[in-house]
Formats: sequence, C-alpha cells, structure tokens
Amino acid sequence: MMKAVRIHEFGGTEVLKIRETAIPTPAPDEILVNVYASGVNPVDWVVREGGNDVLRSFLKLPMTIGWDAAGIVTEVGSEVTHLKKGDAVYGVPNFPGDGSYAEYVAAKASQFALKPKSSSFIEAAGVPLTGLVACNALFELGKLQKHQRVFIHGASGGVGSLAVQLAKAKGAYVIGSASTGNQAFLKELGADETIDYKTQQFEKIINNVDLFFDASPLRDEQERLKGISTLKNGGIFVSVNVDFPLSDTVQEALDKKNATGALLALQTNHEHWLTEMATLIEEGKLKVMVEHVYPLEQVAEAHLKSATWHVRGKLILEIKKENKAV
Ligand SMILES: NC(=O)c1ccc[n+]([C@@H]2O[C@H](COP(=O)([O-])OP(=O)(O)OC[C@H]3O[C@@H](n4cnc5c(N)ncnc54)[C@H](OP(=O)(O)O)[C@@H]3O)[C@@H](O)[C@H]2O)c1
Repeated sequence: MMKAVRIHEFGGTEVLKIRETAIPTPAPDEILVNVYASGVNPVDWVVREGGNDVLRSFLKLPMTIGWDAAGIVTEVGSEVTHLKKGDAVYGVPNFPGDGSYAEYVAAKASQFALKPKSSSFIEAAGVPLTGLVACNALFELGKLQKHQRVFIHGASGGVGSLAVQLAKAKGAYVIGSASTGNQAFLKELGADETIDYKTQQFEKIINNVDLFFDASPLRDEQERLKGISTLKNGGIFVSVNVDFPLSDTVQEALDKKNATGALLALQTNHEHWLTEMATLIEEGKLKVMVEHVYPLEQVAEAHLKSATWHVRGKLILEIKKENKAV
C-alpha cells in the first residue's frame, strides 16, 4: 500500500484526503516511479474544484491529483527501452488521470526522461509540466528563433520563469512582465527588458514583437488585443489559457496583422523537451526557482497559495526525503 492525496468529490481544500491506497501496477509501456517530490500547478486546484470546460469530461472520481513528478524508477513494463529500474527521472504522469501526489505513480515511460543530475528531486519536480508548456509555446507553436523579440506576459510564475530562461538560452531578446515586486526577479532570470503591469501599459511601450506569449492567468479579451497590438506584421500570439477561446474580435485583430494565434492545447514531445531541459539545467542555463516546499500533510496550504496567482517560480510537495548520498 502507499500514501496518496485522493479526492472523492470536487470542492474546496477540505476534499483533499491523505489515504492508503494500492500501489499501481505498470502496463507494458509504463514505468512505476517512487515519487520523491511533486510540483504543484494551478491545474491541480482547478481539477480539485471540478475542472473547466476543457477538462471536466475527462475527470473520474476518486482520483489522485498532481501532474509533475521526480523520483526513482522501481519497475519497468516489458516494452520500455529508454529507462530502467533505479533511474532517477522526472516527468508529467497521466494528465488528467491519477497523478503524482502519491508515493508511487505508474505512467507511460514516454512521459518521463532522466532527471538532470545536478538537480535535487525537489528542484526537478518543478520543471516538467510548466517547462513543457513553455517549450511547446515558445518553440513549437511560437517558432521562436535566435535574435527574435518575445514578450512573456506573466513572466515570474511557474510557466513564465522557465519561459524567460528558455527563450534567453535560444538567443532571443526577452521582454517580461510581472508586478512591481518581481521586476528584479525578472532581471535575475535574464530578461532584457521588464514591464511592471501594475504601473505600466505595455501596449504603449513595446512593439515589433515576433512572439507574444501570454503565460498570465488573465482570461480577458481586451488584454489579448493589447498583446496582439505589440506584434510585428506576421507575428505569433500564443496563450496558455486553452479554456478561454480566441474570440472573433481577437481573430480579426490577428488577421489585420497577418498574425497567427494559438492556444496551447496539448503538450507534445515530452521526452524530447524534458531531455533538452535537463541538458540546459546541467549547463547552468536553466534554473528552477522554488518559492516554497510543503510536506504532503500541508497540501491544502500549497493549493491556497497557488490559487493567489502570485507564485514566484514553483511550489513543491515533498513526498520522500532525499538521501543525498544516493
Ligand atoms: N495549457 C496548459 O497546459 C497550461 C499548463 C500550465 C499552466 N497553464 C496556465 O498558465 C497560466 C500561468 O500558470 P502558472 O503555473 O505559471 O501560474 P503562476 O505560477 O501562479 O504564475 C502567474 C504569473 O502571472 C502573473 N500575473 C498575475 N496576475 C497578473 C495580471 N493581472 N497581469 C499580468 N500578469 C499577472 C504573476 O506575476 P506577479 O506574481 O508578479 O503578479 C505570475 O508571473 C495559468 O492561467 C494556468 O492556468 C496552462
């Protein structure tokens, strides 16, 4: 048996229950991971509350939430070739099914890659979900190239803080927005220019942008139109907020600029991007900023903090203490 945070009904933090449940058995294409740490993401409490228009029909109770894991492989299915028992791995297991707030998770091996050796399990657990979102948005949908100009709205959070560093590592010119208290943090991450969304109107200051990446929690048409106004002709607008579709007005604004707009619907190429990010971490070009580590018993506090939408970097649940000698 293992400990897991289960929900048997949707609702507030009171539905989060630590329960003893069976250790899952991996299918032929799966691995079983002994989870040391799990990242906490806004989608965790969105699912806990019952999901959104995109997720609702995929959710099945009871369930274990959490979709960011770092741990050690304890079993491999017969078809798994790129990972073996004893490997330290990180990945995005089973979204939006039984996830990583648990001592063990069984998930497709393709959703995992080797953890960067220089990262602790706690640091590594902060990378997969938001890092994959950032890679997919910047490089697959956003087609970001060296020397291009990218605006990252909401640049100090889980997605944004990794996106700034990934775009810099690519050689792009990075403009990031955050609140007043996070301006110095954005510079620390490597942003070339920063915008304080509390005191500045970015649409009056920034233009000629190749890619506008909206990594903020705003589901607001006017804000999207402002973002599109900063694009150069033929630019690209990408938003993480897939539950807030592009309206006709937004599409018209894009058309006027010969620009394209995309919502990040599906994360792809997990293994590829996780391996790329591990390399950047080993090279010192990508760091996870961990704002706070919570024991499993304080999962409710972690959810309440995440729901403020003002997290600097990542929140992590520690599930098993790391033996540094391992
Ligand atoms: N499609 C997907 O697969 C996917 C996956 C992950 C996340 N998401 C979405 O991505 C968004 C960000 O997630 P996250 O994990 O990075 O959240 P987070 O860690 O809470 O970060 C939120 C960021 O938004 C900024 N922000 C807050 N209020 C803002 C405002 N009024 N205007 C501009 N920026 C503002 C915050 O900056 P300050 O703290 O300085 O205010 C911070 O940088 C969320 O909407 C989430 O639902 C989508």
